[in-house]
Amino acid sequence: MLSGKKILLVIGGGIAAFKSQDLIRRLRERGATVTPVLTKAAEEFVTPLSVSALAAQKVYRDLFDLTDEAEMGHIELSRAANLVIVAPATADLMAKMAGGHANDLATTLLLATDKPVLIAPSMNVRMWEHAATQRNLTTLSEDGIHVVGPDNGDMACGEYGPGRMAEPASIIDAAESVLLNGPLKGKRILVTSGPTHEPIDPVRYIANRSSGAQGSAIASALSALGANVIFVTGPADVAPPDGIEVVQVETARQMMEAVSYALPVDTAVFAAAVADWRVKGASDKKMKKDGQTLPDLQLLENPDILATVSQMTDNRPKLVVGFAAETDDVIANATKKRERKGCDWIVANDVSPETGIMGGDENAVIVISDTDTETWPRLSKAQTAMRLASKIAEALS
Ligand code: CTP
Repeated sequence: MLSGKKILLVIGGGIAAFKSQDLIRRLRERGATVTPVLTKAAEEFVTPLSVSALAAQKVYRDLFDLTDEAEMGHIELSRAANLVIVAPATADLMAKMAGGHANDLATTLLLATDKPVLIAPSMNVRMWEHAATQRNLTTLSEDGIHVVGPDNGDMACGEYGPGRMAEPASIIDAAESVLLNGPLKGKRILVTSGPTHEPIDPVRYIANRSSGAQGSAIASALSALGANVIFVTGPADVAPPDGIEVVQVETARQMMEAVSYALPVDTAVFAAAVADWRVKGASDKKMKKDGQTLPDLQLLENPDILATVSQMTDNRPKLVVGFAAETDDVIANATKKRERKGCDWIVANDVSPETGIMGGDENAVIVISDTDTETWPRLSKAQTAMRLASKIAEALS
């Protein structure tokens, strides 16, 4: 269940910080990737080096570390994860979270994240029972923060009672149940992605510049919200996300077949840059030049997968989302494309070379439905994907 999930683990400064090392080991055993963040106080209990070695990842330590900021901004870091776990969550960290403070990397990430957050409180029993901590706990629960523990037991400070951090196994169980209960839980969603390759002969083909980055990010964001994703991808540069069902295809016709096989689904998102044409009578032997005649390549139109699925009478998904890659008159062309193909929404973008969108890390899209035209800001492809996944979740609820 945690296979392929990205966990951002904030380690607070308490004696239980040593247990977070076991938590990292167990999360990784279950196939999760763990990105650790240490508060300053946590560094009194565990070393960045040991945490980094266990996670096999860079450890993020301070908001004002400019190198980290240049590599990956805190907003990005807080959103690249499927789940944020705070373990141990000290009384101080809980108070800062409840108050919306953002005065170091950990608290800034927690305030900036749009992902589920699970905290594992750990503190002295009197601190846990204090009215202030209980008030903060209520606020955090009302804010949608998930809580696991604390357990009863002998504490490092010599007292007995609630305050001991939940065992790593319980934290993992809680993490699984949070991830399973996303707003798209129980929804089956198909995503097409990447280019298609249309053979000319066994070594040559017609293709396009799609990297598959946006489709991959969409599949990952939908899965993070609990959807059961079927990812039909052409030969993309970007690897498919882990932990979802992947069907690799090469040509448009294979993609059409894989899509038909995947139906019925609740929603289908057609992010693939399908080649419009294939070569008539592609040669099964490598074509040779003879210095005189040029090959007479004739093209045939490929099936339009989006239009076919949008116009189905049986098995049509409740929500069909297409993409429109345009280079001019983006809104007008995309609006016409949505009507022509019959999909519910079309996500339009300007793929002129100067935008750097095709093959780049960012996207600037306009989401068009029959009632609305929403212009989204230029965002990373991961953020665009998360926004689209949330909009889909809202539409299906
Ligand atoms: N699409 C598809 N099957 C095709 C062609 C396109 O499913 N054979 C889908 C794409 O996945 C995308 C949408 O249709 O969701 C629009 O793709 P785009 O390339 O922008 O449009 P085209 O149909 O190719 O139209 P044109 O080339 O005229 O802009």
